[in-house]
Amino acid sequence: MRNITIVKVFVCKICGEAYIGEKEPSRCPFCGAYKKFFVESTKYDDSGAWDVELNEKDRINVEKALEVEISNNIFYKCASKKTPELDGQKIFKILAKVESEHASVWKKILKLDKIDFPKYDKCAAEYTPNLEESHAREDRAIKFYGQAAAEAENPRVKEIFEAFVEVETDHLHLSEKRLK
Ligand SMILES: [Fe+2]
Ligand SMILES: [Fe+2]
Repeated sequence: MRNITIVKVFVCKICGEAYIGEKEPSRCPFCGAYKKFFVESTKYDDSGAWDVELNEKDRINVEKALEVEISNNIFYKCASKKTPELDGQKIFKILAKVESEHASVWKKILKLDKIDFPKYDKCAAEYTPNLEESHAREDRAIKFYGQAAAEAENPRVKEIFEAFVEVETDHLHLSEKRLK
């Protein structure tokens, strides 16, 4: 007899993407949000998740966050192509994808039709300086997101900023471990 595994569909409340599996992943494969943000799709209605009223302060912070994510995405794309080490290529490529997903979250919050990712080639051709730049970028993002989360009036915006602080902290640990 065949062994049938029952899979379910889980939705990430932060980015809205779905995941198929036996249980929730420890991190969202798209935006990196922690397991606690996953809900079974049959028990979740995200129709209001992207209709967010922004006050002026939240709008300024979300616009800045979008810029941060775009800038980090184009840096990581460059680093994934120029870093000679395979480990570095893999890390920077997945970081580029995650930061692109973060940019897309802010795009939806801002109700923009599309976002531009400019061409960028100013990353290094060696692993260590790219790791150092990654570390500095993630450190800045964590500080800014922590401050933006504390200032946020809208609970949805606050939740996303707090979730991304955790995700960028995961990213910081990747470079920290390799720079030791
Ligand atoms: Fe997600
Ligand atoms: Fe990010």
